[in-house]
Amino acid sequence: MDYAAVAVIGTQWGDEGKGKIVDYLVEKADVIVRYQGGPNAGHTVVVGEETYKLHHLPCGVISEGKISILGNGMVLDAVTLCSELEAMEEKRSMQEHLFISDRAHLIMPYHKRMDELEEDYRKGAKIGTTMRGVGPAYADKVTRMGLRCGDLLDEDTFKQKLAFILKNKNTILEKIYGVDGFSLEDFEAEFFPFARRIVPFITDTTVMLEEEMEKGSKILFEGAQGAMLDIDHGTYPYVTSSNPITGGICIGAGIAPHKIGQVVGVAKAYSTRVGSGPFPTELLDETGDSIREKGNEYGTTTGRPRRIGWLDGVALRHSCRLNGTTFLAVTLLDVLSGLEKVKIAYAYNVGEEVVNNFPSGLHILEKSIPLYQEFEGWAEDISSARSKTDLPRAAQEYLRGLESITGIKVGMVSVGPRRDQTIMM
Ligand code: GDP
Ligand code: IMO
Ligand code: MG
Repeated sequence: MDYAAVAVIGTQWGDEGKGKIVDYLVEKADVIVRYQGGPNAGHTVVVGEETYKLHHLPCGVISEGKISILGNGMVLDAVTLCSELEAMEEKRSMQEHLFISDRAHLIMPYHKRMDELEEDYRKGAKIGTTMRGVGPAYADKVTRMGLRCGDLLDEDTFKQKLAFILKNKNTILEKIYGVDGFSLEDFEAEFFPFARRIVPFITDTTVMLEEEMEKGSKILFEGAQGAMLDIDHGTYPYVTSSNPITGGICIGAGIAPHKIGQVVGVAKAYSTRVGSGPFPTELLDETGDSIREKGNEYGTTTGRPRRIGWLDGVALRHSCRLNGTTFLAVTLLDVLSGLEKVKIAYAYNVGEEVVNNFPSGLHILEKSIPLYQEFEGWAEDISSARSKTDLPRAAQEYLRGLESITGIKVGMVSVGPRRDQTIMM
């Protein structure tokens, strides 16, 4: 791919294997940028004998000599970030390789507390968040009650702002939720030692990114979550609090839309979802269980079993349109080996109507019954396939079916977690 800037975006409900695809593409990149989300992300990369599970740092940090940027659109938890930094710095210094936006918002200890309390409040309608404080931190950004990484550059002023915000937070915690608030002293041990550790990495990353592009550096944007969890375009309110879609890059990294060259839409060969919310193609049977076990479908961040379903072509069309997907990278195709039949939803039945576009209303999604195109399965283990022709005919037919349902070409296929288990189509 000879574009200056390539975006790797999740097209489903997250966990599509974005980490693996970024790791595959990273060789040709100079700068890897995260533009939204926070430690709710869990990106797994397998390199040789080592497995990396990254929540905050982009997967580019694993490869030597690359620049990693945490963009202004992210929300950062200094504690999680420090633990990832320390693990990486056992190998090499991150100074000169990691840059944190001065405009990125901080996840504070009270955000994590609020995440728990708000979930409790929802009772029967829990979102099933990752409890990392992501939603409350974004909420404070929008109500202009947030603290940004740049604020840390002057600790005295930071403390004054924190004291002001704490009055408001403590009123909510004590008067509405009836729990203890926070004192400024609480932050001395729980927050500041970690915050001070990230200070040397904080800078204006938008200027840096522009300079890198002018130099001719290749940029890789690493999406977190997926289009169906997008705050605007996903299954609201069962979504995350940021914009994972391509448009989120312009806001969250601070670059102009025309600078994004190619958009790789990462799609699992079936569907998964963690947490609550509509999932029309969900499989609540033995087929779902067997895919979960074979695909090791347990959350990277929380360890929760992921819900499993057939590939949802309606959701995929919706997300490919929103993302401007250049081509699809289909992952975990190897997991479907051994099934007699495999299915892709091409439309939904809602009452008497056939619906082709992903509905926004939960009341409609609840009544949506997928209409499936059925494909022959394949028995062969495909994890050592390295070219299109190594794939069984039935697997090739499945990919062709996916292309015709979505109208988007499959440009890459992943048949295992390792870098070499990748087919360029
Ligand atoms: P992300 O959040 O989109 O980066 O995805 P996760 O890392 O949370 O989940 C994807 C999981 O599938 C990880 O454990 C990967 O190592 C693994 N994986 C990625 N691609 C493949 C593949 O093609 N086949 C198999 N079997 N596993 C894969
Ligand atoms: P990656 O980057 C899968 C889900 C949570 C919950 C909802 C809101 O690994 O693909 P939040 O903590 O963001 O407020 O939770 O979003 N969720 C993810 N699901 N992969 C992720 O990230 C996710 N990040 C958040 O399970 O349903
Ligand atoms: Mg994940």
